[in-house]
Order: sequence, then C-alpha cells, then structure tokens
Amino acid sequence: MKHLKTSRAPISQKAFVPTAPENVDTIGGTVTVHINSKTLSVPFGTTILEACRMSDIYIPTLCAHEDLGIGGHCRLCLVDVEGMRTLQASCAFPITAPIKVKTSTISVRKARKHIMELLLSEHVGECYACVKNGNCELQTLAKEMGVDAYMFGHPNVSKYPVDRSSYSVIRDMDKCINCRRCVRTCIDLQEVGCPRSYWQRSRNSYRYIYG
Ligand code: FES
Repeated sequence: MKHLKTSRAPISQKAFVPTAPENVDTIGGTVTVHINSKTLSVPFGTTILEACRMSDIYIPTLCAHEDLGIGGHCRLCLVDVEGMRTLQASCAFPITAPIKVKTSTISVRKARKHIMELLLSEHVGECYACVKNGNCELQTLAKEMGVDAYMFGHPNVSKYPVDRSSYSVIRDMDKCINCRRCVRTCIDLQEVGCPRSYWQRSRNSYRYIYG
C-alpha cells in the first residue's frame, strides 16, 4: 500500500488510510455494540478490543499495547463481526457504527490457534523448554491455546547473532515474531526512528517502515 506523503501520522501508522465514516453524525457521540451477549455504548472510534476490555471480555493479544498506535500485526485478536466476510483483528477495528461481535466462536478459536502455530513455525528453539519458563507472553498464549506441537515444523539453527549493543534492549532476531512493538516504540514513543544500518538487520522491519 502506498504511504501518504503528506500525512503527519507517526511513520509506523502511514500504511493506515483513514476513511470518512458513513454516518458523520455519530462522530463525538457513542455507538452501541453487541459483544457476545452484552450490549454496551462506547465512544465513537473505540476499537473492538478496547470495548471488550471495558466489559471484561478476554481477547488474546500480542502486538497491541495501550501506549502505542494501532498495529494489527499478529492477528491473534481475531473476532467475528456480523456481516463481515472474514474475521477481523479487534485491536485494529474502530467501531463507527452499531455492530454485533462474537469473540469466541469455534472458527475464531481455530483461527487464533492456527496463527499461533504459524508464529511458532519461525521461532528458533523449543518454546516449551525455553529458559523464560512462563515469563513470556508468547509461551503463555501458546499454552493457553493448546498449541503443544509444531504443526508447521520450526527451525533449530540460529540465523541471527544476538545484539547486545544497547544498554536497555537485547535483540534476538531468532525470537522475533514481528509484533513490531519495538519498532513502534522507537518511532511513536521515543520519536527516534533508529537509522537504516540498525534496522536493516531485522527481517522485515526496515522494509515495513521505509517501504
Ligand atoms: S493484538 Fe491485534 S493484531 Fe496483534
């Protein structure tokens, strides 16, 4: 997708092209949303994930972070929105009109499990024998979803050296799942945007930022 040349949005958000809502009267107001058996009114533009969190409905997430802009990279937060042809990433779906959402149908749970299997297929090393031993969001979610086998195989040989050049972050690209939290933090929060030489070592991050 072409980046907006004139946009003042953070670079990590430039792939997002906002479109005018159909019903402009609802801007600044509230919208009614049905989630599973609950009905609630949320401010216009609230994402489905935020609405679910407001009403204590659990949705697994990896790339979403409350301090960062919308990412929509990992796709673990898929939900079923009535009338939509495909499952939608709840963290990247702003509610601009009344909708009905199901968060835990069989197809939703199957899709999330499948995505977790794909994420692990690129993860070097044995996830369940990892020294993190439960102190890892990925490992915890894999366990929660019942992913206990590598359906698509996985690499055992390291491809990237561990980068310990920073005082604050250790980067092990063999473990990267492309959630891009680090990239978005660097750009959106720190407003640094590390130079090319740094990012080009990561798999797709550089291509993602600079097109
Ligand atoms: S948490 Fe929604 S796509 Fe990653």
